[in-house]
Amino acid sequence: MIKDFLPINGTDYVELYVGNAKQSALYYQYTFGFELIAYAGPETGVKDRASYVLKQEKIRLVLTSPLSVDHPINAHIKQHGDGVKVLALWVDDAKTSWKETTTRGAISVEAPKTIQDQYGEVRVASIQTYGDTIHTFVERKNYQGPFLPGYHPRKSSYPSQAIGLKYIDHCVGNVALGEMNHWVNFYEQVMGFKLLLTFDDKDISTEYSALMSKVVSNGNGYIKFPINEPAEGKKKSQIEEYLDFYGGAGVQHIAIATQDIIHTVGELRKRGVEFLEVPASYYDDLLDRVGKIDEDLTTLKALNILVDRDEEGYLLQIFTKPVQDRPTLFFEIIQRKGATSFGKGNFKALFEAIEREQQLRGNL
Ligand code: FE2
Repeated sequence: MIKDFLPINGTDYVELYVGNAKQSALYYQYTFGFELIAYAGPETGVKDRASYVLKQEKIRLVLTSPLSVDHPINAHIKQHGDGVKVLALWVDDAKTSWKETTTRGAISVEAPKTIQDQYGEVRVASIQTYGDTIHTFVERKNYQGPFLPGYHPRKSSYPSQAIGLKYIDHCVGNVALGEMNHWVNFYEQVMGFKLLLTFDDKDISTEYSALMSKVVSNGNGYIKFPINEPAEGKKKSQIEEYLDFYGGAGVQHIAIATQDIIHTVGELRKRGVEFLEVPASYYDDLLDRVGKIDEDLTTLKALNILVDRDEEGYLLQIFTKPVQDRPTLFFEIIQRKGATSFGKGNFKALFEAIEREQQLRGNL
């Protein structure tokens, strides 16, 4: 067996640059049930930005806003709107991770550095991926603090209630036409990932909108990055709409795993999260398509949860509408019952639902 030159323990955190981190933090606490655990800002000695760290089980979400007129984060927000800046990867050795990837061609964003406070030390290093998105390697084995050095523990007076979100299942990137293979090669050559799956436009085209997708995964399979590019269709691809409004390549959706999707989605709906809706007819022959499932069909239909089966089992999934006004980042909630795939059987119904939304926005 070839040694994995980039062993990764999992996703460390996902950081979004947003226009108003204070308000976004409350949105994710209220709707998705995250808990505020740490904060960095003027009150903690960080003068130029404010960052809120939210947690639920293994998921850490960081929301950051700049505080000054000329802060470089402003340019990111002007270009992209609210969106994912950092997909951070938890590693045992940040320096080696940076060295192994940069010697294979990764562009360095930040060379390895050690940061410390009274809770210990963390070593971090960052490299560029698609668009303005970066990967930060986080080595935290000598750290006991709430998040990273510089962050203070912080609690909210709002009593957030977890909704069963467990961990990040996969993060999807949208890239420009003709660039998918470049980024698949990047993950293969530079990061040692393997190509897991390929979807071409025959798998995932509807009457109008089409896309192509390849899924790469790291050695232990904890990190899965599908990469999409637009394909030629009769009208504008949903990926093109994303690229237009995000101002280039970026993270399209973050899929979060739950072990009880009925409870999780019920809570999200109660708290005002909007989802893509498939027509009721989707459920007419669902059991013929996917076979026997544990869940009650009427409940799934009421919540508009989708089901798909592969050779290993089945999965349940649902997609939110974009979580900001630009039609860019959205979330997927997924419960895996053996299935390791991504819901290919639902692509058509889903993409037709997306097209109806695109149509409403006048972008089809
Ligand atoms: Fe997904």
